[in-house]
Amino acid sequence: MEIQEFGTVRLFPLGLSRDAREYSCQRLNQILADTQILYNLYKKHHWLMRGPTFYQLHLLLDKHAGEQLELVDKMAERIQTLGGVAVADPRHVAEITVIPRPPNGCEEVPAMLSRLVEAHETILVAAHDAAARAQEMGDDGTNDLLVSEVIRTGELQTWFLIEHLVDTPLVEGRKA
Ligand SMILES: [Fe+2]
Repeated sequence: MEIQEFGTVRLFPLGLSRDAREYSCQRLNQILADTQILYNLYKKHHWLMRGPTFYQLHLLLDKHAGEQLELVDKMAERIQTLGGVAVADPRHVAEITVIPRPPNGCEEVPAMLSRLVEAHETILVAAHDAAARAQEMGDDGTNDLLVSEVIRTGELQTWFLIEHLVDTPLVEGRKA
């Protein structure tokens, strides 16, 4: 028996309209679902990594996974703070996410890294738009979480990933 349905908000005296809280919860739940998938993609690629840069990437992807997991917790708790219900069950997450499902097996290293970069960009585009709309509706707390945490972390992690997608002098030297 559910005592609060997903997609609804309780009446919380936060100085924010019900509309603003409902809107923020809906946008945050989408980004939360996508971030949970990004976290799981990071763990998958942390485990399945291979090749000459295995150790470095194995460690880097796990660090990023840990940071994404912290964002998952912060967004879920923001939704609860606004009186909403956070998406949590992985089967529910799978229904909501817009991040494409990877193959069950192992891809080439650049494909794994590109997949992460693309997932980051999907989240960044949504977070920029949601942050601007949340601010228009007076929800400064959600705007701050999205800008200071989700966007800044996503941008930084993307930088670290794309540097690994550029051919290294070692690889170039071997080709020549
Ligand atoms: Fe590990």
